[in-house]
Amino acid sequence: MSGNTCIMHVAAFFNHNNILSGSRCEVRGYVGECHPEHSEVSETLRNIHTYHVARGTKHVAKKLEVHMNILFIGDVVGRPGRNYLAMNLQKLVNDNNIDFIIVNGENSAGGVGITKSTYDELLGMGVDMITLGNHSWAKKEIFEFIEESDKLVRPANYPKGTPGKGFRITEKVGKRIAVINLCGRVFMDCIECPFKIIDEILEELKGKTDIIIVDFHAEATSEKLAMGWYLDGRVKAVLGTHTHIQTSDERVLPGGTAYITDVGMTGPRDSILGVDKDIVIRKFITGMPARFEVASGEAVLGAVKIALDDNSAVTSIIRII
Ligand SMILES: [Fe+2]
Ligand SMILES: [Fe+2]
Repeated sequence: MSGNTCIMHVAAFFNHNNILSGSRCEVRGYVGECHPEHSEVSETLRNIHTYHVARGTKHVAKKLEVHMNILFIGDVVGRPGRNYLAMNLQKLVNDNNIDFIIVNGENSAGGVGITKSTYDELLGMGVDMITLGNHSWAKKEIFEFIEESDKLVRPANYPKGTPGKGFRITEKVGKRIAVINLCGRVFMDCIECPFKIIDEILEELKGKTDIIIVDFHAEATSEKLAMGWYLDGRVKAVLGTHTHIQTSDERVLPGGTAYITDVGMTGPRDSILGVDKDIVIRKFITGMPARFEVASGEAVLGAVKIALDDNSAVTSIIRII
């Protein structure tokens, strides 16, 4: 390396070549794949480097900004929701430089529950972790695969001894990411106190993670806000699910926790919470029980993107629809 070249830039350029050749990238930790950002960075570095070499000048390198983007997708409803993701998720990931994807899958199979088939289908799209909610047990076959499914998280505040796990830790881009699922208790089934249980989990996770994301699956806005404030500064994000209607109150709380009351659903738009609207209207009018069916037609996305800097501090939360 001569005195008129920039070591950092050349090193970064070599890192890009390492990605192309399938070895590990030291900049972002990618293995065997080329992140879209790197192509641009590499091209820019090549130009800057060539400029300085040609003029015999020295360039003072600026440290590359390393960060992480997490995409959280709200309740995926049935085939319309899954098909939407099958067709659009890869573009979403590319356009938003997504590193880690979490999906709430409690409605992924026929509108309620999850099956091995929908679990595998979501993972096959590149999803990193799947959370659940009050419909966790709607499809009985879940009991056959939940224990060995290391990308599946059910509400942590179910009674002790309930199958499955309430949180899981996985590593991506060199970060240890814990995803926790909790259910609310207001207008919901009677389960353990989510505030008490999250205290126990956070104690257990001390020193074991870099990033903690909470999916708080609850009905009442007050309970969700209470959880957001309760965990502000203790986790990276408290993201509400369950109502299937996206709220517009996303923000980073003063302690640094990204918050939204509800991420919304990913499912058929001309519906009532993903269900065929005529069935639900008839049920309201007649008061008679009705068998719900997933609506058809065009699907919409309910999602948020959380950006973190190289110290894993949250820099922003934005809605993606
Ligand atoms: Fe749901
Ligand atoms: Fe739910």
